Amino acid sequence: MSVPYSTDDAGHPAPSDGLSQSVGPNGPLLLQDHFLIQKMAHFNRERVPERVVHAKGGGAFGEMEITEDVSRYTKADLFQKGKKTPLLIRFSTVAGELGSADTARDPRGFSLKFYTEHGNYDLVGNNTPIFFIRDPSKFSDFIHSQKRRADNQLRDHNMQWDFWTLNPESAHQVSFLMTDRGTPKTWRHMHGFGSHTFLWYNADGQKFWVKYHFKTDQGVENLTADEAKAMEGDPDAHRRDLWQAIEQGDYPSWTVKVQVMPFEDATNYRINPFDLTKVWPHEDYPEITIGKFTLNRNPSNYFAEIEQAAFEPSNLVPGIGGSPDKMLQGRLFSYPDTHRYRIGPNYLQLPVNQPKVQTRSYNFDGPMTYANNADPVYAPNTAGGAVSANELYEDEHYHVSGDMVRSAYELHKEDDDFSQARALWENVLSESERTNMIGNIVGHASAPEVTGDMKKRVVEYWTNVHPDLGAGVAEGLGVQA
Ligand code: NDP
Ligand code: HEM
Repeated sequence: MSVPYSTDDAGHPAPSDGLSQSVGPNGPLLLQDHFLIQKMAHFNRERVPERVVHAKGGGAFGEMEITEDVSRYTKADLFQKGKKTPLLIRFSTVAGELGSADTARDPRGFSLKFYTEHGNYDLVGNNTPIFFIRDPSKFSDFIHSQKRRADNQLRDHNMQWDFWTLNPESAHQVSFLMTDRGTPKTWRHMHGFGSHTFLWYNADGQKFWVKYHFKTDQGVENLTADEAKAMEGDPDAHRRDLWQAIEQGDYPSWTVKVQVMPFEDATNYRINPFDLTKVWPHEDYPEITIGKFTLNRNPSNYFAEIEQAAFEPSNLVPGIGGSPDKMLQGRLFSYPDTHRYRIGPNYLQLPVNQPKVQTRSYNFDGPMTYANNADPVYAPNTAGGAVSANELYEDEHYHVSGDMVRSAYELHKEDDDFSQARALWENVLSESERTNMIGNIVGHASAPEVTGDMKKRVVEYWTNVHPDLGAGVAEGLGVQA
């Protein structure tokens, strides 16, 4: 079989893959060598900006299968018993840049894109069920404190503790982060969580609040701080691990579970069920197993399918809605906005982001459009164009009212910033996990830039979680408790 010609991007046979056109063998190059010019110009544009957070990651494709009947809770097509839905997943760290180490202490992103029969459904979660803050207006400040300083472009632990200690609602998430779950062994060995509370509604219009838990079938395994540090010399360890497991046919899987709260319970529940710094204790709302997802295919082009993947919490489908969680509300705006900037306004036309169903949108043209819009290009019309599916969404409604304010959430009777972090310390962590947690905090807060005053604030913060934890941190930092 003969080898085909290489071409330029317009399909012309390439005159040479390695020789530019010059005046004589030693002469200057010619502006007319448009093959060379296209090659260099394209190279200059090879990168899109990295994600402003979660820049370093990796991903794969797979499938979710629903094994239980939850039609009494949601009519969403992807959650009907027996349904198999193709999916894309992307794992990531949060604060590091594109080349940073996979084993850094950080939450891990756990982004799922389900290609459903009603368009794409994205669950853009983490490997923790909670988050550092509960109001989206704090998000950019939080992230600035975790990334690099303005003056010397260095990460700064003093800045990180400054933010955390001034925002005590962070204590639960920082507790997770400072256990060895802050340094998972691989992406395969960690759970995933939708984290937010979402709305589910069934075909009869009954509504429920739901939280998603994806439990690793590989078992939770973590690195100690020393092991994670040692592996930073191999920055792509987790990316490689996932790739190799799938190449070898050792397909990782997660059991899909949900916690379901009857709609009416939310008002008087003992904690605010929409507060992203809190879990719903299992004794109140047990986990219900509904299915499993498995990863079975590596990307064939990382840039096209992972770097340009656009996950967005606003990708919801009939049967699933948002909730009054203020963080979720903020995210519904933020992701499509960043994708229009990071990738370009027609990012939804890229194969990885395209739904697997036919789109019949009246959005039209714009840069790099290649999909054919057929007439009519406006709605309403009398030309037989598609019409909206109002009836699929009519049960998404619920009553809200109130004065226009800038206010913290109203407190439910057991709401505070520390109780659930304390429950983790008191009831969940083993003795050795507690010892490691203290060691991890002390190691982090012992960075040379952390001031003496800040160390006292760090001790106070952990004492509020539990006196024993505060005492252990005080001893490790050499601070009088
Ligand atoms: P439960 O005893 O019913 O659940 C404890 C949960 O903690 C389990 O999901 C367990 O699942 C998880 N867990 C075990 N070891 C660790 C660890 N080292 N770090 C983080 N999570 C761990 O108690 P409650 O539901 O009342 O929750 C008590 C506390 O447990 C919460 O305040 C919260 O900090 C934590 N937690 C609760 C979750 C929830 O959704 N209710 C989810 C995760 C944590 P597994 O071992 O499979 O991870
Ligand atoms: C990525 C904003 C909270 C999980 C991103 C990106 C932005 C962003 C702008 C980059 C997206 C891209 O370029 O493709 C925000 C804002 C938040 C918030 C404004 C709060 C108001 C959260 C929370 C979670 C989360 C609470 C998890 C529960 C992720 C993940 C990614 C991401 C997993 C990576 C997505 C991917 O894999 O491509 N976030 N975020 N974020 N965020 Fe958030």
